[in-house]
Parts: sequence; C-alpha cells; structure tokens
Amino acid sequence: MSKTFYIETFGCQMNAHDSEKVIGTLEHEGYQRVENEDDAGLILYNTCSIRDKAEQKVFHRLNEYKRLSGEGKKFAVLGCVAQQEGEKIFDRAPYVSLVSGSASYRNLPQMLVRLESGEKRITGLDDRQTEETFDTEFTARTNPHRAYITIVEGCDKFCAYCVVPYTRGKERSRGSDSVLAEARRIADSGFTEIQLLGQNVNSYRDPSGRMTFAELLAAVGQVPGIRRVRFTTSHPRDFTREIVQAIDSIPSLCDHVHLPVQSGSTAVLRAMAREYTREWYLERISWMKAAKRDISITTDIIVGFPGETDQDLEDTATLLDEVQYDGVFAFKYSPRPNTPSIGMADSIPEEEKSRRLQILLDRQREIQRRNYAKHLGTTMEVMVEGHNSARAQVIGRSSQNKTVNFTTAQPILPAVASYRSVRITQTFPNSLAGEAVAAE
Ligand code: SAH
Ligand code: SF4
Ligand code: F3S
Repeated sequence: MSKTFYIETFGCQMNAHDSEKVIGTLEHEGYQRVENEDDAGLILYNTCSIRDKAEQKVFHRLNEYKRLSGEGKKFAVLGCVAQQEGEKIFDRAPYVSLVSGSASYRNLPQMLVRLESGEKRITGLDDRQTEETFDTEFTARTNPHRAYITIVEGCDKFCAYCVVPYTRGKERSRGSDSVLAEARRIADSGFTEIQLLGQNVNSYRDPSGRMTFAELLAAVGQVPGIRRVRFTTSHPRDFTREIVQAIDSIPSLCDHVHLPVQSGSTAVLRAMAREYTREWYLERISWMKAAKRDISITTDIIVGFPGETDQDLEDTATLLDEVQYDGVFAFKYSPRPNTPSIGMADSIPEEEKSRRLQILLDRQREIQRRNYAKHLGTTMEVMVEGHNSARAQVIGRSSQNKTVNFTTAQPILPAVASYRSVRITQTFPNSLAGEAVAAE
C-alpha cells in the first residue's frame, strides 16, 4: 500500500496538466496510481484558490481526509492553495506532510525521498525566484483525446483581483525547441489534438529568441499528424494580428479564441489594472471579425468588482451585444488574500452580485441561441470525445470548441478521438445536435 497514490485535482487546465506531470513523475518513482483514497498510501490534493468557493472546497476535503489519517497514510497538498497558505496548512491539518506550489514541482523527486524517509512538514514554496519551467518526459496523458503542453507558467500582470501572480510565480516560458519536440512526441504517440497552455498563453517569450507565439502556434499546427491545435488563455494585452493570420492560414489551428475581457467598462478595467480600455479590446475583436475564417470568440467576466455601477454593468451588457460571443464564463467578484483589491471595500452585496450575473447570463443566452442557430443544416468535422450509451449518442466537439451530440447509422459507435462529419439538425444555446454523414 505504501507505494500507491490517489490524486484529486481542482482548478484550471494548467492544474489538470500539472497533475498529469505529477502522476508521471510518481509513476517513474515506482508509485502506482489507484482510483480510491482508501487504497492509497499517499493522497495528493492539487488545489485552486482563484475564488473563495474553490478554496473552501479544499479545506472541506482536507477535513474529510482526517478520518483516513490514522491508518499510516501520507497527505500532500499541491497547487495554488498550497502556495498561498504555505506552512499554515500544517497547523490546520497536522496530518499533511508535504505542501508544494507548482513552481517547486521540479523538486518533486527529492521531496518524495524525504517523504518516504518519514520526514514531516516538507515544503516546496519557491515563489517568484525561479526562471525554470516544469517539464518532464514522464508526463502521464490522462485525457484520451487531447494532449496538453504548458508553454508559459506564472503571470506578471498583477490584475487587482487575482491570486495567480502570487500562487504561480513569475512568468516564464518554455523554449520553442523543447515545445516542438514534445509536440512531435505527442503526435508519434497517436494524439491528433494539442492544447497549448499558459495563464496568458500568448504572452509567450521564447527564451531562445527564435519564435513569437504566433510562429510557435503555426509550427505546432504543422507537426505531421496534428489535426487540431487549441490554445488558452489569451490575454488582450498580448493579442496580435499575427495570431489571427496564423489561424487564417493554417487549417489545423482551431477557429476559436478565448479572450477574457472581465468588464465592458473602461473605468472598471482601470480599477482592475487590466491596462486596456473597452475600445482597445474591441479593436482586437475587430481583427478576428475581419478574418477569412469564422473565428468563435469566448470570454470571462467578473461582476460586482468594488465600485461597479449600474452604468458599468450596462457597458458590459452592450459589449456582449457588440462582440456576439459564443460563450461567456461570468463570475462574482471574490476578494482574495494578498491581492491589491483586498484593500478596496467589497462594496457590492452578494445578492446584488447575483442579480448582475443573471442579467448578463440572460442577455448572453439569447446571443448564443442566435449564434448556434446559424449552424443549422451545415456539416462540420467533429472529434469524438465520449459516448452516451443510454441514448446511443456520440458526444463530440467542433473545431470552434462547440459541443456536438450526434447519432450514427453504424451499429458500433465511433471511437473516442476519431473524427466524423456531422450534419447539424438541431441547435441549442450551448450545444448542437446532428447525425453523422455516411463516409463516402
Ligand atoms: N489569465 C487570464 C485569466 C485567468 S483566471 C486572464 O487574465 O484573462 C480565470 C478567470 O477567473 C479570470 O478570467 C477571471 O474572470 C476569474 N477570476 C480571477 N480572479 C477572480 C476573483 N478574485 N473573483 C472572481 N473571479 C475571478
Ligand atoms: Fe490573473 Fe490578470 Fe494574470 Fe490573468 S493576467 S492570471 S487575471 S493577474
Ligand atoms: Fe486555480 Fe491556480 Fe489555476 S488558482 S485557476 S489552479 S492557476
């Protein structure tokens, strides 16, 4: 039992991919992964602290683990809550032996040796010191249809509300040679879809100076065998026309850009320290609208930032109308430790934040209903991501990142990670439905 581990992951795709690297590292060190914490000698928890709710979940789960702590099990807390709370976690949960943020994972093998020798209170809390990224040849690929490559770690933008610069350390990029070598290995192992990751993926700065982000994107898209390249998250400050040109000229680059705006009001953007205005953001949108391909655009929004007025909210609502997003992730502002905005009064009551959130979501739903309806009767390439056996349905995704549920005349459902042409027969505000077109 001692060399078995169980890992649970919360948070963003970067955290999910960090877990894949942690799993690969542990397996290389002779550990075996189990699906149940009761069977595990080592329990790891990879945490997120982006909003209060994410963090509360962590402490709640740690309390649940307490019942297992009498059986000689070891516990490790990784990720953003680990970095943020540091040694305080040992005080709150004394049965935890290891606390490490993502900037220290490259030291994981050494930390594991110390853990095995019975050491307690082991920490990996390098924060803004490191220039290194965490890449390992032992990455476990747990997603059957998509392979991730983190090309940028950390963040130097320090938006007023955000914990990431404190939990993930300073911004650093992985060399383009190393990224491309990994992309080729991924293709050789049979994957056809790659997603490039970074808290701000397009802030990429090749340490070797060879490539811009758009050039790297294009190069990954031209790796033989790769049919789909996604990238997330793009920051408006570093969004260039070259990215749009790359998407236009290389069909394997997916026609989808996630470009978080946070607010449609320049005054709120200023208070958030986003360093762009509404007009500046809309100019980037206009580049995408002018592209030859139909680029699907999605965004993130925060409502109820300190001082947000009804007019500011209205500015965000009209921005939704102007951009015609295909998807919006909207969050209620949550004050975070260490961040500049923690000093501003969290002036908008919770119910008012909920009301504002609902106004935006209702408005956006109608936009999406119309946007998705435009696909009716068209045929598109869909990658199979899963099955709903009960309804004999296939669950897939279009290049634009839209969910497509479809049926097929074939008796055997197509395999995960295969592609089908699908004719769209029904549309909804969040998904499309159709039937596979018989292969010719
Ligand atoms: N780097 C990306 C976003 C990363 S965090 C960018 O700058 O656009 C993912 C999303 O979480 C953010 O886009 C934001 O909408 C939301 N978020 C971050 N901090 C938050 C907070 N304190 N309260 C509410 N939402 C927050
Ligand atoms: Fe957070 Fe801003 Fe960095 Fe995005 S750019 S991760 S919102 S600090
Ligand atoms: Fe959460 Fe850290 Fe990602 S705070 S969203 S896991 S960078």
